[in-house]
Formats: sequence, C-alpha cells, structure tokens
Amino acid sequence: MMIRWKHLIVLVIVLPVLGLVVAWSGLMSVGASSGHWAATDWFLHWVMRNSVRTAALSVEAPPLDNPALLPPAAGHFETGCAICHGSPAQGRSDAVRAMLPPPPDLKTVVPTWTDAQLFEIVKHGVRFTGMPAWPTQMRDDEVWAMVAFLRKLPEMDTNAYLQVSGLHGIGNAGEVSPLPITCESCHAEKRLTNDSIIPRLAGQSEPYLLNSLRAYAQRQRPSGVMEVAVGTLADESLPELARYYAKQARPPRAVSPADAQLIEKGRELAEKGRPADKVPACFSCHEKPGGNPAYPRISGQNAAYIMRQLRLFHAGVRGGSSFSHLMIEVASKLKEEDFAALAAFFAGRESRVP
Ligand code: HEC
Ligand code: HEC
Ligand code: HEC
Repeated sequence: MMIRWKHLIVLVIVLPVLGLVVAWSGLMSVGASSGHWAATDWFLHWVMRNSVRTAALSVEAPPLDNPALLPPAAGHFETGCAICHGSPAQGRSDAVRAMLPPPPDLKTVVPTWTDAQLFEIVKHGVRFTGMPAWPTQMRDDEVWAMVAFLRKLPEMDTNAYLQVSGLHGIGNAGEVSPLPITCESCHAEKRLTNDSIIPRLAGQSEPYLLNSLRAYAQRQRPSGVMEVAVGTLADESLPELARYYAKQARPPRAVSPADAQLIEKGRELAEKGRPADKVPACFSCHEKPGGNPAYPRISGQNAAYIMRQLRLFHAGVRGGSSFSHLMIEVASKLKEEDFAALAAFFAGRESRVP
C-alpha cells in the first residue's frame, strides 16, 4: 500500500516537471507547415464539435425564414468572412489555405450543423483556430441573421449571391467579378423596402448620422455589421458620409396598407404619449420644429428597422450617441405591442424636415 502511494506521488510530481522540461527544451514544434498528425487533427475537431454541441443545447433558434435577414448578413459575409472561407464571389487564397486548421469551405460543412450550433460558432468563434468571435457580444439578432444566411449559402449560385449581398448591379450589369462592398451595397435606396432591417439614410439628420457613425466606430453602439463597415474608415471621412446621405431626398414610401387601427394606435402614442405609463409623446423630441437637430427623423424609415431599434432600446442594448439614454428611458416604458403600432405609423408617414 505504502509503495503504491509513493509511486503515485512521484508520478504526480515528475510528470508535470517532465512536461515543462520538454516544453522548455524547444523540441516541441509550433510550426504550422507540417500540419497536425491525423490523430491530433481528428481529436481537436472532435473536441470542437462536442463543445459546440453541448453549448448549443440551451440555445433556441428563432424563425429564420424572413428574407430581409439575408442582405446585411451576406454583405457582412463578403467583408468579414469570405477572406478566410471564400464565397461564391471569391476563392480562398493560398495564404489562408496554409492556416492550421484551414478555414473550411462553408458550403460543404454548414449542412452538418444545426441552427443553434451555427449560432454558437459564429457568436463565440473557435479558440486556437483563427475563427473569430462576432465583433459584439451584446446582441444576438445579427448573429441569427448570419445563421439564416449560412443556411441558404449551400444552394446559392454566384449570381444569387452577388444580388443578395449588394455586389450586383453596382458595376456594369451582369459583371461577375465582384466589386468591393461599399455603403451603397447595403444602404442603396433602391434595395430597401419597408421590411428591411437596414435603415434608410437618405434625408436623415446630418448631426444624427455623424453621431451614429462615430458611435459605431467607438463601439458605443453595438453592431458587428456596422463596426466592420466603418472600422477601416478614417475619422475625417465620417462627416463627409453624413453630409452625403443627409442631403439626399427621402421620397415617401408606398407602405402596404397596414391595419388602420394599428396606425391609429401609433399616431396616438406619437402625438400624445401615454401618461398612465409615463410614455412621452414621440413628437415632443422627434421632428419637432426648433428641436435638437441631433435627434433622428423617424418618419419614412423602414418599419422592420424601427421595430428592431425599439426592441434594442427596450432591452437596453441599443447604445448610440450621448443622447441615447433619453431614448432608452422612453423605450423602457413601451410595451411589446406598441412597437408594431409605432413602426406602422412612422413608416407610412411622409418625412418632414423639422
Ligand atoms: C481569420 C479567418 C476566419 C474568419 C475571418 C472567419 N472564420 Fe470561420 N473559421 C475559421 C477557421 C480556421 C475555422 C475552423 C475551425 C475548426 O476547424 O475548429 C472556422 C470555422 C467556421 C465554422 C465551422 C465550420 C466547421 O465545420 O468547422 C463556421 C460555421 C464559420 N467558421 C463561420 C464563419 C463566419 C460566418 C465568419 C464571418 C462572420 C467567419 N467564419 C469568419 C477561420 C475564419
Ligand atoms: C453589410 C451591410 C452594411 C454596410 C456595408 C454598411 N451598413 Fe450601415 N447599417 C447596416 C445595418 C444592418 C445597420 C443597422 C445596425 C444597427 O442595428 O445598429 C446600419 C446602420 C447604419 C447607420 C445608422 C442609421 C440610423 O438610422 O441610426 C448609419 C449612419 C450607417 N449604417 C451608415 C453606413 C455607412 C456610411 C456605410 C459605409 C461606410 C455603411 N453604413 C455600410 C448595414 C450596412
Ligand atoms: C426625450 C426625447 C425622446 C422621446 C420622447 C422619444 N425619443 Fe426616440 N430618440 C431620441 C434620441 C435622442 C434618439 C437618438 C439616440 C442616439 O443618438 O443614439 C432617439 C432614437 C430613436 C429611434 C432610432 C432611430 C434610428 O434611426 O435608429 C427610434 C426608432 C425612436 N427614437 C423612436 C421613438 C418613438 C417611437 C418615440 C415615442 C414612443 C420616441 N422615439 C420618443 C429621443 C427621444
């Protein structure tokens, strides 16, 4: 019995010391050139799959069949993911193929994962592999939009991809060699509808646009998509972009004839608020003649985008400029059923210059 204990103690002390000596000797290669042994490769990927499977057990996927989820995710995919994974518009470079492990062609591997598992991978990334986490951990809706896009990717041909990501139609029609993603790939007026979760920028207040761009750049307004879009821009170009969009006309949008009752309920809230719940009238701040020009214009904005922002404010994760706390306070008093009414009212209303 005594001898066994001694053996065990020696083992517990000697093994880690031996490990340290080998690590210190420099004999362990960290070079990626020779790849992993097949067994190591299999083991690491097995560990990754198990970890993702377990983490995804507590994740419930929302419905992902809304086509409006695809354009911002596809545009982001081209700038934020295709450099490693390739896309229908660009192959993987030799440099990326030499990574260890190499980023897989997602068309072939996506079908092996469930929605919840893809969500886990895209949100948190994969440690030790180069697969990055989503740029912000504050909100999940953007990650789910990416999952919706990944689901569609295996069946997407080049043309469909160019169209949904906004790469198509910016250059000469039918041009297959893709152009870089620009603001217009996502924000072009002609691509947006009332169901879009990408906002209309045309005719928005210039100080508000500038504040918003700075808020994204300084990570005061969490959005992985917009963080990447403004991440490489020089500070000096932001005022120029704000001016460019503010000067454009925001033509009134033909909104599908929504429930008249819903619009009426929205109007009531916008004009009078709801004193019983301490909800102020929206027009006491927004689009108020002589009001603060840094408060945004809401009229004529896409209904789906308005709803999404109200939900984010309500949940306290919208962020924004140094005025955003005002709106967080208002939204905290709104109820879920108010969002659709407010969105329907504002979307169908002609934008007025305050
Ligand atoms: C810097 C390179 C890099 C970027 C950028 C990148 N990935 Fe990855 N990704 C990887 C690598 C490497 C793996 C392999 C991880 C492994 O095998 O454990 C991976 C794995 C994945 C997987 C799991 C595939 C599988 O079966 O192994 C998915 C899904 C994925 N990435 C999606 C994305 C999305 C979506 C984006 C953009 C938001 C993205 N990746 C950006 C490098 C990258
Ligand atoms: C890949 C698609 C994509 C690209 C590219 C993109 N945007 Fe955006 N943009 C979005 C989405 C999605 C949102 C909404 C994000 C949120 O929820 O905060 C947004 C929001 C914005 C807002 C906030 C508007 C508001 O009403 O609050 C501004 C301003 C903006 N983008 C400007 C730009 C500019 C300028 C560029 C080019 C440098 C650009 N975007 C590139 C998708 C994109
Ligand atoms: C006390 C002033 C105030 C009131 C009242 C107010 N808001 Fe706001 N709201 C703001 C400010 C300020 C912002 C911009 C925050 C920022 O700069 O990041 C904002 C932003 C918004 C946005 C985001 C716009 C965009 O383009 O992303 C929406 C949507 C919105 N408000 C809707 C409403 C609605 C609907 C009501 C009425 C229920 C309302 N607001 C009442 C101050 C107010």
